[in-house]
Amino acid sequence: MTRILIVDDSEVARRHTANLLQERHGLEIVEAADGFDALKVLAELSVELVICDYEMPRMNGLQLVQAIRARSNVNELPILVLTSRAAASDKVLLLRAGANDYVTKPVEPEELSARVAVQLELQTLQRALLKATAQSMQSQKLQAIGQLAAGVAHEINTPIQYIGDNVSFLQSAFADFQRLVEAMGAAIEAARDKPLTTEHAAELERLVSEVDSEYLADEIPHSIAQALDGVGNVARIVSAMKEFAHPREGRMSPHDLNRALKGVVTVARNEWKYVAEVQLDLDDNLPAVSCLPGEINQVFLNLLVNAAHAVADKGGDGVLGTIAIRTRALDGTVEVRVEDSGTGVPQSVIDRIFDPFFTTKKVGRGTGQGLSIARATVVEKHGGELTLETDPGRGTTFIVRLPIEQPAAAAEEVA
Ligand SMILES: Nc1ncnc2c1ncn2[C@@H]1O[C@H](COP(=O)(O)OP(=O)(O)O)[C@@H](O)[C@H]1O
Ligand SMILES: [Mg+2]
Repeated sequence: MTRILIVDDSEVARRHTANLLQERHGLEIVEAADGFDALKVLAELSVELVICDYEMPRMNGLQLVQAIRARSNVNELPILVLTSRAAASDKVLLLRAGANDYVTKPVEPEELSARVAVQLELQTLQRALLKATAQSMQSQKLQAIGQLAAGVAHEINTPIQYIGDNVSFLQSAFADFQRLVEAMGAAIEAARDKPLTTEHAAELERLVSEVDSEYLADEIPHSIAQALDGVGNVARIVSAMKEFAHPREGRMSPHDLNRALKGVVTVARNEWKYVAEVQLDLDDNLPAVSCLPGEINQVFLNLLVNAAHAVADKGGDGVLGTIAIRTRALDGTVEVRVEDSGTGVPQSVIDRIFDPFFTTKKVGRGTGQGLSIARATVVEKHGGELTLETDPGRGTTFIVRLPIEQPAAAAEEVA
């Protein structure tokens, strides 16, 4: 049952309001006789709505609203104030302090009931919205991984191809050497009893030139090196993908952004390699940044994919565009710049690109969530900044600034 708190110093008034709401909305009612009492209740119980009187001894309605809002953990809790004050300025003060609504006394039962219903409904909607946002973030991530998976399969295919070719070559080279070794072994065996016949020597010579041992001796080390190089490539792609898909979930932890960016460039290679060259200009002395690694990686991925799209849309007549990724440490913050030589953002849409679901791309290529999620992640979750500089027709730079340390409270809150 929905539980609400009624705060009023008059017991009669309290009972009156409680009866009215119980009857109409079937609510569970908790009562408090003043502000201090109310704060005690809120510390112990979770309630869905607070209705409080304005005129109360010790702590008035405005002070109570301020005290409730000062505790960050009940920010979404709706507060409705019953006020007999006619002065509009007091009502403005109340709303500014964080009250959600007020009802003027004497209370009209219909009005109070309707306003309570609105607050409770809003509360339900807000929860649904938060849940939907979380789900949409999750599905955006899954979608990104799905999209990347196809590209990654492709990326892995190339080294696998040449690893295969080299190993086949090594297999036949080994067989040739084995023939040679066996023939020599036999010759040594035969030479124990009697000197090697000229026929036997000629036979060996023929074999040596047939297997072209000089060529093999040259080629085998190359071939091994290439195969190892391919294996290293595959391992790098797989580990970048793994790190991307399963970062140390959900907790603020120190993150090496240079490494993260290299990983993102690797997993998204298939998105940019036909349209742009990626240049990395990474500050060697970049400190680790305390953040949610998975979500920050997702931000970089969104910015990189956007940059690749913008470069592709500009079209280079066969000439590759550029995407430059730079990092540097500033005072207390770290800056990541993703600069592209793409289309730029037209003035007509620049105010909307961070809006959820705003996209200029066709279905399947864009969902319009990348930048809105990026902003929520960087600004709201990390207290950082996400800005851009753009020059239509020449390109765009997105700039992420993240504080190196998170305040302990923020780190706990998201945990
Ligand atoms: N680097 C960029 N260059 C030009 N336009 C961009 C760039 N990044 C984003 N945009 C614009 O912002 C819009 C919103 O981006 P985003 O939120 O990532 O959604 P999506 O990429 O799915 O369209 C894009 O559709 C595009 O018009
Ligand atoms: Mg995008």
